[in-house]
Amino acid sequence: METWRAISTIRAVRAFADRPLDEAHVERIIRAGRRAPSSKNRQRWEFVVCRERAHLVELSKVGDFAGHVAAAAAAVAVITPDADNRSAREWTMLDAGQAAQNMLLTAWDLEIGGVHAAVYDEPLARRLLGYPAGYRCDLILSVGYPADPTVLTAPLGTDGRRPLDELVHWERW
Ligand SMILES: Cc1cc2nc3c(=O)[nH]c(=O)nc-3n(C[C@H](O)[C@H](O)[C@H](O)COP(=O)(O)O)c2cc1C
Repeated sequence: METWRAISTIRAVRAFADRPLDEAHVERIIRAGRRAPSSKNRQRWEFVVCRERAHLVELSKVGDFAGHVAAAAAAVAVITPDADNRSAREWTMLDAGQAAQNMLLTAWDLEIGGVHAAVYDEPLARRLLGYPAGYRCDLILSVGYPADPTVLTAPLGTDGRRPLDELVHWERW
């Protein structure tokens, strides 16, 4: 898929077909996360890929808006080092967001939908995902073939974004 087409058509998908992802597709998605740019190329991320249904159901309890994880074909938890320095933490979160978007766009290119789940109950995420002290998980991605495949090609209508002239300033604010 051409890049602009992917960027302009991607949408959050929260309902998934009960069908496992091709192994090659899973690998492509996590490779896309690996390819993301990061501050000083530090790549402060690790990914935990979960596919067991019982595990996904448990993971769906980590956030108030994470219910979609229960029915996903896979979840990719983005794990980052828990820096004590606020500035490092903020850059790490920006990097993690870029890795997440790389993965979602690559999934979309493979006709796989997905969406983020913000982690509210971090101790539960830690228990379920088993990452060590010094790391944390703020974000999990659900991915799967969409329950309604027409979302991949349906016109967006309104895309729910603020108009360009409301958010862009030229030369100065
Ligand atoms: C940092 C971040 C956290 C998000 N957390 C959640 C979440 O917990 N649950 C959820 O269903 N969607 C979550 N989303 C997805 C947003 O709701 C979605 O990207 C936004 O509504 C735009 O959707 P659209 O691309 O379909 O228009 C999150 C997105 C981001 C970037």
